[in-house]
Amino acid sequence: MIVAVGCDHAGFVLRSVVLGYFESKATVLDCGVSTAEPADYPDVALRAAAAVSEGQADAGVLMCGTGIGMALAANKVKGVRAASCFDAETARLAKAHNNLNILCLGGRFLSPDRALAVLDAWHGASFEGGRHLARVNKIAAAEAVTFSSGGVVIFNHPLVHHKMTIIRDKNTSVKEFRELVEEVAGLMVYEITRNLPLSETRVETPMASAAARTLAGKKLAVVPVLRAGLGMVNGILSLIPNAKVGHIGLYRDPNTLEPVEYYCKLPQDIQEREIFVADPMLATGGTAVAALSLIKARGGRKISLVCLVAAPEGVKRVHEAHPDVGIFIAALDPCLDDHGYIVPGLGDAGDRLFGSK
Ligand code: URA
Repeated sequence: MIVAVGCDHAGFVLRSVVLGYFESKATVLDCGVSTAEPADYPDVALRAAAAVSEGQADAGVLMCGTGIGMALAANKVKGVRAASCFDAETARLAKAHNNLNILCLGGRFLSPDRALAVLDAWHGASFEGGRHLARVNKIAAAEAVTFSSGGVVIFNHPLVHHKMTIIRDKNTSVKEFRELVEEVAGLMVYEITRNLPLSETRVETPMASAAARTLAGKKLAVVPVLRAGLGMVNGILSLIPNAKVGHIGLYRDPNTLEPVEYYCKLPQDIQEREIFVADPMLATGGTAVAALSLIKARGGRKISLVCLVAAPEGVKRVHEAHPDVGIFIAALDPCLDDHGYIVPGLGDAGDRLFGSK
């Protein structure tokens, strides 16, 4: 069993208690933080919740001052049922009746002994199913197609999960990687465009005249960020072949580490178009923020960022810099490594697409 464990500064007092409890019982996926320095609980909660939602962990335990902030944030993620429990019986029932998959604990309210009793009651209980399953299924049915939080949507579709697993696999060939990146990009745009406006029309079938609907003249544009974004373009164009395509090239200045523009060619009427910016990897967010600023400086307004894999740091940075931009990602991974690569991620998307390494 894998348990995602995370805390903020106020929950830090319980971190060693929880880690000690699981030492012989489960593998811990450490979602931070590892010091008592001030930390924002949503960052930790969303990281752990994404791990549970995407099957990287079977369950989670989150600690903050009351456990409530962690529960509120974690419950934004599809498939997560999180609650703060203050006594053993509530914790047992939360598993038995609600199939609670993330237990939240309040570091300011629970002594280590009480926290252990709550944890043990939850961990030792089993979901009873039956009438409770029907009720838990109603919660699942109320969830949208995707997890959506503050303009961020994480796809939760079986086909996307399946294809992403093959994309991540280091043994997947360049050919298959390229095909699957196109396919996932297409699936994502299929979903993102579900609210495009339609107009009423009529069509003559070989049998009769029928009422029908067509896209209401919406102008679309795809803007890949060079070079890895190119891998997503054909998949998107296969669904919206009339979209115009722009290109943005940015490189990272080795001294300042800031992105620098080396190419930008956008459709002339970009300000009238709904724009899909394509970049498979949203890592630190620096490139995406710069690309979005470039498009806005040329008049682009209605913009969505479409990425395959994102790190929480990148999502946060883009969301803070461009809160009006919808961020659509196929998978949210736990963290970045020291070189800014997403872990577990899929490696260097450009190299894997073009076979350049
Ligand atoms: N770019 C990549 O191609 N991969 C990462 O993990 C991060 C940035």
